[in-house]
Amino acid sequence: MQTLIKTSIMQLLELYRQDPRADKLNLTAGIYMDESGTCPILDSVREAEAFRVQNQSSKATFNLTGAPDYQQAVRTLLFPNMGGSGETHHVQVIQTLGASGALHLVGKLVNHYTPNAKIWLSAPTWENHPAVLNSHAGGFGHYRYLPAHLDEVSLDTILADLESAKPGDYVLLHACCHNPTGMDLNLSQWTKMADFCAERHLIPLFDFAYQGFAHSPERDAELFDAFKERVDRFLICNSFSKNMGLYDERIGALTLVFKEEEQALDWNNTAKRLIRSSYSMPPTHGSFIVSHILNDPDRCARWQQELAGMCNDLHTRRAAFFTELANAGIQDQVLTYRQQQGMFVMLNLSEQQIDTLRERSGIYLLGNGRISIASLRTEMMPRFVEALKSVI
Ligand SMILES: Cc1ncc(COP(=O)(O)O)c(C=O)c1O
Repeated sequence: MQTLIKTSIMQLLELYRQDPRADKLNLTAGIYMDESGTCPILDSVREAEAFRVQNQSSKATFNLTGAPDYQQAVRTLLFPNMGGSGETHHVQVIQTLGASGALHLVGKLVNHYTPNAKIWLSAPTWENHPAVLNSHAGGFGHYRYLPAHLDEVSLDTILADLESAKPGDYVLLHACCHNPTGMDLNLSQWTKMADFCAERHLIPLFDFAYQGFAHSPERDAELFDAFKERVDRFLICNSFSKNMGLYDERIGALTLVFKEEEQALDWNNTAKRLIRSSYSMPPTHGSFIVSHILNDPDRCARWQQELAGMCNDLHTRRAAFFTELANAGIQDQVLTYRQQQGMFVMLNLSEQQIDTLRERSGIYLLGNGRISIASLRTEMMPRFVEALKSVI
């Protein structure tokens, strides 16, 4: 039997492609698919693209960290209430190649400023985190991300593990829709986390790849207020791959939120040098789409409706899947949490059960038991649950 514990999602996708079975089922990738099995282009995105084709007057624009319109759009999306006097932090937005590009840039920046600092990752976490962050020399720490009970993550365990972190270390936190568990800290837990980071001088590093998929873009960003009130600096890596469906445009941002203006500007300048010496400057198509939509209230409202449509679909499918598990009498055995958000559900399965599902039934899921509910069409649920039942 081929063991796939350490197999990456890309290798699994290759095996899936080679699998000749007509009824094979790919539940690996975190890509939103509608009930017809396609990843749609949003109407708001199509309109923005059409507008650009008609109106773009030049391709000679050069902004190392992105166009000001794009930076404004990201700033407003992350901090809807920001502006006016009394702001405590300086916010610098740097356009990146998706959240992956933002994380990679963070790795380089951390290495530049504090090569001995560790980056603490949740265990489990997104399988690609160590790889995209690996340009920093300080290595990784790990904090356990475990259930306190069916409806809550254990913050006590997280904080107990982070006791070993040193001042100046970074803590990577999934701002919402934790990958792979789908279970997030609640606002009161975020506040405690912010207090903890402030006391220990730890620097929060947010992966915000799923903004809008838990509740709404504004509500999912609420936790940042607690951090602004408590910590001197934090970093946010966000993405428009998922919430605008712009996967292959590679568009996201690294946002620096620093109390000290001089430091923010210094980091921004270093980021410019790093960008110039690697890919020179970012592409503009995706960033145009984002700013065209977000900087106009009507277009933004239309996009929010489309995003809400995707989210509601995921909520409905998750509920249907949970019901199907309950009807089969295996819900308690299979689910770690009752209240997951976003694209993923983590199933309590052994590596052997996961291998058997793939080999016997052509059902592909990650070696840690993560499935993407966004790839599980309602009509496929009975077959999937039956296959699950057969391996338990
Ligand atoms: C937690 C997490 N972070 C980052 C990413 C990468 O996002 P992007 O496509 O914007 O690079 C993903 C996508 O799979 C993810 O799940």
